[in-house]
Order: sequence, then C-alpha cells, then structure tokens
Amino acid sequence: MNAIEAIFTRRSIRKYKQIKVDNEILELVLKSAMYAPSARNEQPWHFIVIDDPDLKNRVMNAHPHAKMLSEAPVAILVCGDKELEISPDYWPVDCAAATQNILLSAHASGLGAVWLGVHPRTERKKAIREIFGLPSHVEPFSLVAIGVPDEQKDQPERFKPERIKRNSWNS
Ligand SMILES: Cc1cc2nc3c(=O)[nH]c(=O)nc-3n(C[C@H](O)[C@H](O)[C@H](O)COP(=O)(O)O)c2cc1C
Repeated sequence: MNAIEAIFTRRSIRKYKQIKVDNEILELVLKSAMYAPSARNEQPWHFIVIDDPDLKNRVMNAHPHAKMLSEAPVAILVCGDKELEISPDYWPVDCAAATQNILLSAHASGLGAVWLGVHPRTERKKAIREIFGLPSHVEPFSLVAIGVPDEQKDQPERFKPERIKRNSWNS
C-alpha cells in the first residue's frame, strides 16, 4: 500500500480479532512514529506499549471513550518529554505527528487502530500520569488502541474544495 492509499483508506477501527499483534509489526509501527517530523527535529516523544489486561482496564476506567481497549490486544501511550524540547510548547504538535504516523503505519501493515485523545483533558492526563508513574516533565499525549481489524469501514467523502483559498482568505 502506498502512502496516498493509506491516507485515504485509513479509518478508526474499534473492533479487533482476538489475535496477538506481531512483535515485528509493532516495532515497525513504533519506528514509524519516531520518523515523524518534529520542531527543530527535537523528537521529544516516548512510547509506552500496553498489553497488560489490568493496566488496560485501569486506563478504560480513566478515559470516558476507551471501551475498545478491552478488546484491543495492545495500545500505545504517546508521551511528550518537556526536557527534550528545543522549541518550547511544540511537544503536542510533535506528538500529534507521531500519533498519525502510528495510525497510518498500523493501517498499511494490515492492523486497525484508533486515536484516543488524552491531551489537553486535565482529568485524563492526571489519571494516566498516575497509572503509568510518569515523571512531571513527561506529558501523556494520546493513546492508540491497535489490533487485527474485526470491522470494515468505507471511505467517506471529505474533500471540500470551498475550504481551499488561493493566495488570500478573500479569494
Ligand atoms: C485528537 C483526537 C481524539 C480522539 N479521541 C477519540 C476517543 O477518545 N475515542 C474514540 O473512539 N475515538 C477518538 N478519536 C477518533 C475520531 O473519533 C475519528 O478520527 C473521527 O471520528 C474520524 O473518523 P476516522 O478516524 O475513521 O476517519 C479521536 C481522534 C482525534 C484526532
């Protein structure tokens, strides 16, 4: 699958077969995250792989829209490290790029994934910080639930030509 096809056919997948995710594919997905662009190439991220059922349960209880974690064989917590930043306050932007790379790489590898928002929701961040023992300079950014897809979704129409301006807002 090429990059364009991956972008257009990726959808949020929330149902998974009860099959383990291959470790090599998981590593490829994590490597893809680390190839994301970042401000001044600061690469301020850390990734926590979550495959422990008790931990997944605790996360589900801390996050109001994460029920699919009970079925997902694995999840990745994307974190930003403020001590690794070169350009202040860019860590969420960098982590968003890394999260998108995870979604696209998982999809291109035949897996299904969904982005679960953590940052900037203070209550979710506090609970997740406690569950994973994050130090104060490390911010939880997103969770990505991943598994072998057990649902198929069509490609929606999202192209809105009227959202494109040329050279000026008033064009
Ligand atoms: C910042 C962000 C937070 C999201 N949080 C959740 C979430 O908590 N739970 C969930 O099921 N989906 C979540 N999603 C997935 C969106 O619902 C999904 O991307 C959107 O509906 C578009 O569908 P698609 O991903 O299939 O194109 C999130 C997506 C983003 C980008």
